[in-house]
Amino acid sequence: MEGLTGKVAVVTGGASGLGAGMVRSFVAAGLKVVVADVLERQGRLLADELGPACIFQRTDLRSDEDLDALLATAQQRFAGLDFLFNVACSYAEEGLQTSRSGWHQVFDINLFGHALLIQKALPYLVHSQAASIVNFSSASGHIAQMGRWVYPATKAAIEQMTRSAALELADQGIRVNAILPGLIGKPSHEYASEEAAQRIAGLADRFNMFSRLQTAEEVAEAALFLCSSHARFITGACLAVDGGYTALGPQGKERHVPRRG
Ligand SMILES: NC(=O)c1ccc[n+]([C@@H]2O[C@H](COP(=O)([O-])OP(=O)(O)OC[C@H]3O[C@@H](n4cnc5c(N)ncnc54)[C@H](O)[C@@H]3O)[C@@H](O)[C@H]2O)c1
Repeated sequence: MEGLTGKVAVVTGGASGLGAGMVRSFVAAGLKVVVADVLERQGRLLADELGPACIFQRTDLRSDEDLDALLATAQQRFAGLDFLFNVACSYAEEGLQTSRSGWHQVFDINLFGHALLIQKALPYLVHSQAASIVNFSSASGHIAQMGRWVYPATKAAIEQMTRSAALELADQGIRVNAILPGLIGKPSHEYASEEAAQRIAGLADRFNMFSRLQTAEEVAEAALFLCSSHARFITGACLAVDGGYTALGPQGKERHVPRRG
């Protein structure tokens, strides 16, 4: 893909899960990456593994000072900023019983922190010839899920923020899109339990069209496409990279209408 080599990216939530897999793909594609996460040990290990093209900056999205320090570090170490990947999230919630502070905590990370990061990154991004922001949504932002109230609301909100940001920043040549990933395969120790890992694998088997979990690399390639020059007229979009998970209706993958003729 064109327009990627040597570009500088910040990846929030890049120390574990989908974010870490994406960071590996980004460095392999020639990007310089600043990993922004609260997980210090994992973040530093990842940066050590990937060498000088990757650094870790401990960043709590709930702290304005941390956001300022993150952007200053990207500027000092890599002399600029081209791409912002807003991957970090919190899944913490108690559904209907979530307290007011519980609602605040999750919105603070999933939405407010990323909104503030976009605001603070602007003075850096305007100097890039190819500035691009990719936010992360979820099928959870489109459907009802038993026991989940907060996380889905943050994901619906980040899609709307993507459209607002795309319009507001278009004049400055900054594109803003979102990716809606499907069910990502993670190392088993990153799931809450073995039972949770099996349940997610079973969902992928039944409800996405390729009947398997997807890889972080498959999401990273779509994210790189959105930042590449090939996507220069794409902004304000939410791209489902989910093996058809959100396209599949209640009829599932079975044929319910008999063949005719
Ligand atoms: N895993 C999936 O199947 C899936 C499906 C759809 C969408 N998504 C989206 O993909 C993204 C990554 O999901 P994941 O499952 O890999 O998540 P994860 O929980 O494995 O990783 C999230 C990362 O965010 C970091 N983080 C949490 N709080 C933070 C804070 N205050 N400041 C900075 N970093 C913080 C965590 O330390 C962690 O490294 C999320 O935006 C999620 O909504 C994931």
